[in-house]
Amino acid sequence: RFFDSFHRHLSSPGTAILKREEPPTGSEEPGLPGNRKTFSEVQKERHEQAQRSILISCPKKVPEKRLLKHLCQHGEITNHFFFESFGIHAVIEYSKKESIASLQDSTFIPHGETEFPIPFKSRFFNINLKNPSNQISDGTLVQCSDQSSPSNVDLVEMLCNAESVEGQIITLMRILQVTEENIRLRYLTCSLIEDIAAAYFPACTVKPFGSSVNSFGKLGCDLDMFLDLDDIGKNSAAKTAGSFSMEYQVKNVSSERWATQKILSVIGECLDNFGPGCVSVQKILHARCPLVRFSHQASGFQCDLTANNRIALKSSELLYIYGTLDSRVRALAFSVRYWARQQALTSSIPGAWLTNFSLTIMVIFFLQKRSPPIIPSIDYLKNLAGAEDKCIIEGNDCTLVSNLDRIKPSLNTETLDILLCQFFEYFGNFAFNKNSINIRKGKEQNKPDSSPIYIQNPFEPTLNVSRNVNENQLERFVHLARESAWILQQEDKSQLSKSSSHPWGLAALLLPSGLNKSKAKKPGKGPTNETIRKLLESIKADSAKRSTATREK
Ligand code: GTP
Ligand code: MG
Repeated sequence: RFFDSFHRHLSSPGTAILKREEPPTGSEEPGLPGNRKTFSEVQKERHEQAQRSILISCPKKVPEKRLLKHLCQHGEITNHFFFESFGIHAVIEYSKKESIASLQDSTFIPHGETEFPIPFKSRFFNINLKNPSNQISDGTLVQCSDQSSPSNVDLVEMLCNAESVEGQIITLMRILQVTEENIRLRYLTCSLIEDIAAAYFPACTVKPFGSSVNSFGKLGCDLDMFLDLDDIGKNSAAKTAGSFSMEYQVKNVSSERWATQKILSVIGECLDNFGPGCVSVQKILHARCPLVRFSHQASGFQCDLTANNRIALKSSELLYIYGTLDSRVRALAFSVRYWARQQALTSSIPGAWLTNFSLTIMVIFFLQKRSPPIIPSIDYLKNLAGAEDKCIIEGNDCTLVSNLDRIKPSLNTETLDILLCQFFEYFGNFAFNKNSINIRKGKEQNKPDSSPIYIQNPFEPTLNVSRNVNENQLERFVHLARESAWILQQEDKSQLSKSSSHPWGLAALLLPSGLNKSKAKKPGKGPTNETIRKLLESIKADSAKRSTATREK
């Protein structure tokens, strides 16, 4: 039923915008069993693809064909795209890594008159036309792939053109989710950082984690990456014959945390001093999880580099598994996360609010609690695991089945509109004062302490993922959840005409909360809808003014 309405939605009028590619969840048709890649297979493939890729800053009007022909001198190009971020950039993927060495051999290090270059040969280049005035005429403007999401006003308008709440939920996900190109750019950025870190640790890898890889990524989300030095240790484990054993002379420090801080400190310095495109580098080494934060200007990503963070990568795998098992998981999580952001329940500034990670776990828990369940518990995923999946990190059993075809599909056929309304109803009435949310068991349990909301960490059972959330924020969440459930139920009863000028369904939940209340009291009545329409228009006019002003700066 879900896929029926999915396809109906795709072919409905006014949905031309939906022609985005599916995100590479590793499955041709997410949610369908049979052809799903394991998380580590996807990681490996993407990592290798990124190592064969380069980033180029191009002139404004670049003749695409000539550019490709020029770059083809070094080998076959299998993929390319352009995007805009502080000018036009291209990502070029060669079929072989060797092509990049050949390209680097024919590339100069520029010498300015007043500035001195640091001669670091990276995979980030500038390309200039030797004779711009002759060549522009035969080059059409390149098409740039979109790397940012639309404004809330535009999104609300697009949602109003859908046919049903379920259609809106799917539309929202397809518009906001990271695109194939954006994912490639994320892996390429990690790979460029890996080259810099490799100056110190030649066999290291820099791996993306968090929403860039867990299938819940939204265009514009940060790029979480971690420096993995574990493989260096593994390589030295090969046994040799003879009467001696050899080991490396190393410096020792008194704790693993200190080692992590030292390593991140030098990598941070290195990014700051030598990393092309890396700006605003901040070392945040005394945080619970030490990190280096910086902007990668060329790709436009805000990056958080950590080290020694295997549990976070495992959490990303867990979310990836749930996101791949049933298409309703991602769809619902995208709506809930976006709703929370619009209602200021989440923020980009750290504080006492809920995080996207906590909200995703709440969605997973809710779907585990449906009857019949839509997704299984973590314990179930662990019990299906083979010997090759065994994984212990810092004393915690993080074993998960990697072959997703071993997991039986759910018999639950509930539609997304029902699930969204029920999600709000469920958490609007959840006994947060008594119970904790536990996705390992798929059941609520007695709360072990007095935090306002307790969400058990999936892999470190003594930790609360939402320990930062205060009473006030939890109350706001509960209040808004109840209000949203109510609005969706009211609309269900009244036969509102669904039109683009009257925000309805999911679109109505994305407006400031005060407006929703008045709308729900008088569904379909002129003045209220008129107010909303006027507000939308004024926000739109405002944002148009703002964007013109920004462009003019
Ligand atoms: P965005 O908000 O879209 O960036 O979502 P995200 O999932 O990437 O979250 P964030 O960047 O805050 O954190 C990155 C990853 O770190 C998450 O996906 C989790 O794997 C992990 N993480 C974040 N917060 C917590 C937490 O409170 N506890 C635990 N155990 N892991 C966390
Ligand atoms: Mg993130």
